[in-house]
Amino acid sequence: MSTLLSFRDVWVEYGDRIIIEKLDLDIAAGSFVSVVGPSGAGKSSFLRLILGQEAPTRGSILLDGVPLKPECGPDRGVVFQRYSVFPHLSALRNTMLGLECAQSPFTARLFGRSRRKAEEEATAMLEAVGLGHSLHLYPAQMSGGMQQRLAIAQALVKRPRILLLDEPFGALDPGIRADMHALIRGLWQEYALTIVMVTHDIREAFTLGTRVLALDKRRHDPHAPHRFGATAIYDLPLRNRTEPTPPSITIDAIGNN
Ligand SMILES: Nc1ncnc2c1ncn2[C@@H]1O[C@H](COP(=O)(O)OP(=O)(O)O)[C@@H](O)[C@H]1O
Ligand SMILES: [Mg+2]
Repeated sequence: MSTLLSFRDVWVEYGDRIIIEKLDLDIAAGSFVSVVGPSGAGKSSFLRLILGQEAPTRGSILLDGVPLKPECGPDRGVVFQRYSVFPHLSALRNTMLGLECAQSPFTARLFGRSRRKAEEEATAMLEAVGLGHSLHLYPAQMSGGMQQRLAIAQALVKRPRILLLDEPFGALDPGIRADMHALIRGLWQEYALTIVMVTHDIREAFTLGTRVLALDKRRHDPHAPHRFGATAIYDLPLRNRTEPTPPSITIDAIGNN
């Protein structure tokens, strides 16, 4: 498996507070990395580094062997636990927005043919996440699970290679969560995604991941809690995982060309 992302001696510091220290790891293309660790360990910071929202204070992050630009690129999508979607837009408009911003960054508006194409792509993506019958609903009219499906559609409509999930199912009921697990596993395979998912739920981490990464401090200074940062204290490859298959023909048919 080829390496998609490499962390080389990565540090994140805020003034004299060390959040992440000496992080060295590679993430293989097509893997599903579950990230666990105590609250405040730097899990969201880790995702922000991959997203390009934050730059390391030391060290480097490589994407395909090239230093990651500190900006959010279309090859990376993200879903948070809540508030990923816009309340004043319908499911369809929420999903189209990603395409509109990518193609028309100043007005976020498309017209004529490109608008119809964006509408088709957004509709197909909403169908893929099981919201084909809810195109015109607003987030307030949707359950928590439906809102997370919408957030996933919004993230995937730009065809990212990397999907970042920050406790995406943490606020959902257990039954709904099982549905979401099936959904995300299917999307991971169908779209040949590399997924990095932060979760509090250790069972979820092991159920979905091809690898479980635990971030925590290796050393504690009780008198100076921010003297040491978190790093990968466990990094467990899991066996018996199906690897993602190449995108199917339906995906190509609604691609961006
Ligand atoms: N902009 C910031 N300035 C200062 N400290 C921050 C900033 N962002 C995050 N932190 C601190 O970094 C630590 C890790 O935060 P975070 O990555 O959100 O942890 P987690 O997601 O594991 O709960 C926390 O102690 C948090 O207070
Ligand atoms: Mg967090």
